Amino acid sequence: MKDIVPSPPPIVRNDVASVQALFQKNVVPSYGRFDIALSHGSGSYVFDVTGKRYLDFGGGIAVTSLGHAHPAITEALLEQSRKLVHISNLYYHEPQGRLAEAIVNLIAPGKVFFCNSGAEANEGLFKLARKFGHDEGRYEILTAINSFHGRTLAGIAATGQDKVKKGFEPMMPGFRHVPYNDLAAVRDAISPATIAIMIEGIQGEGGLTMASPEYLLGLRKLCDEKRMLLFMDGVQDGYFRTGRFQSFQRILEQRAVGILPTEKNQPCQQDAGSTFLPDGISMAKSLGGGFPIGAFWARAPYGDLLGPGTHASTFGGTPLGCAVALKIFEVVRQEKLADNTRTMGEFLRASLQSLAKKYPQVIQETRGVGLMIGIELAANIPNLPGDTTKTQAVRFVNLLHAAGLLTIPAGANVIRLLPALNLRQSEAEEGLRIIESVAAKLAG
Ligand SMILES: Cc1ncc(COP(=O)(O)O)c(C=O)c1O
Repeated sequence: MKDIVPSPPPIVRNDVASVQALFQKNVVPSYGRFDIALSHGSGSYVFDVTGKRYLDFGGGIAVTSLGHAHPAITEALLEQSRKLVHISNLYYHEPQGRLAEAIVNLIAPGKVFFCNSGAEANEGLFKLARKFGHDEGRYEILTAINSFHGRTLAGIAATGQDKVKKGFEPMMPGFRHVPYNDLAAVRDAISPATIAIMIEGIQGEGGLTMASPEYLLGLRKLCDEKRMLLFMDGVQDGYFRTGRFQSFQRILEQRAVGILPTEKNQPCQQDAGSTFLPDGISMAKSLGGGFPIGAFWARAPYGDLLGPGTHASTFGGTPLGCAVALKIFEVVRQEKLADNTRTMGEFLRASLQSLAKKYPQVIQETRGVGLMIGIELAANIPNLPGDTTKTQAVRFVNLLHAAGLLTIPAGANVIRLLPALNLRQSEAEEGLRIIESVAAKLAG
């Protein structure tokens, strides 16, 4: 064994530079990383290798739904790993069946396919659409400009941002992009080959833009008229992040109670959120709280389109992954984390709006709902330090890091807050204090 796999060299100096050196030598440099090396976490806090503590408002990009080192996740991992970690999808096992049931119960009758990531969940939906349209020669999927759907070849073809495509042409055929929130543009773009449209309820990577209720309802009507499938990419905005399991439920409910402006400021039918349904929803990220698991739900009868032998994933829905995801559902329910997400989200949004008023030269506006919040920075922040070849968003995030807060850039000018769903009031206040301290310094 020793001859085949040499033991790794010990990390002698436990500092950022030595960890970075390991990456520089051995890890594919496809990510732009911040100069932070993390070693452990607890709840909404993480600690770097030097012992510095950060409040985590990035949540590993909307993943760590229960924060870090949650005892329920540790317990589920231990308990299930003593029984069965993996068996392949040649056999049945209870955790996968129960997890699929939990997801179906939260959406509507349909079926669930399990995989490992958001891109893979979207790939499954793309294949489902192609299967649906195959005999009529329909295969084309429309997606939105500024969308993000993953980094696989189909994922970058589906994503409505040139930066992810550059250098990887030719793109996989069968995707076209239309302006977001523009129903007429979708109608005009439909060709005889079009079979589906996929959108995010809230564009995450694209800068926190939210679909309007009219757009969602209009897309449903259009898809019904044209016998097309309507897919929602819920990878980032799903899993209670908005206060409901899926973002469309929250968006339509908000219209009903008049939180969001409507076209004519008319409240829509009270039940729009519960009667509207897409035909497919992709999920990943928070579903496993950090354990990699993805899934798509397809509405009945489309859930039966992919028959035996048509689609698969070796690690999809392992007993271990499903046991963890089931445990997270249990904690979310028991601790009423959907309600917490609403309360904390409303508190953060209102407080950030006040900061935007107080420091207009730094914060232009805030957007989002629940614990998916975007802070749009002012166009040219005076005195913003840092490497000017980097975006304002990256430079602002660096200042927050120095002050002890992790956040995520979205596009060139927006900062995303995607904290754990169990964020506490005191932690929300601490994060706001840090954001205000940075804004105040910049406002000078
Ligand atoms: C909306 C959306 N879809 C898909 C993906 C891809 O997910 P993954 O990185 O798990 O493949 C992401 C990741 O950020 C996302 O935000």
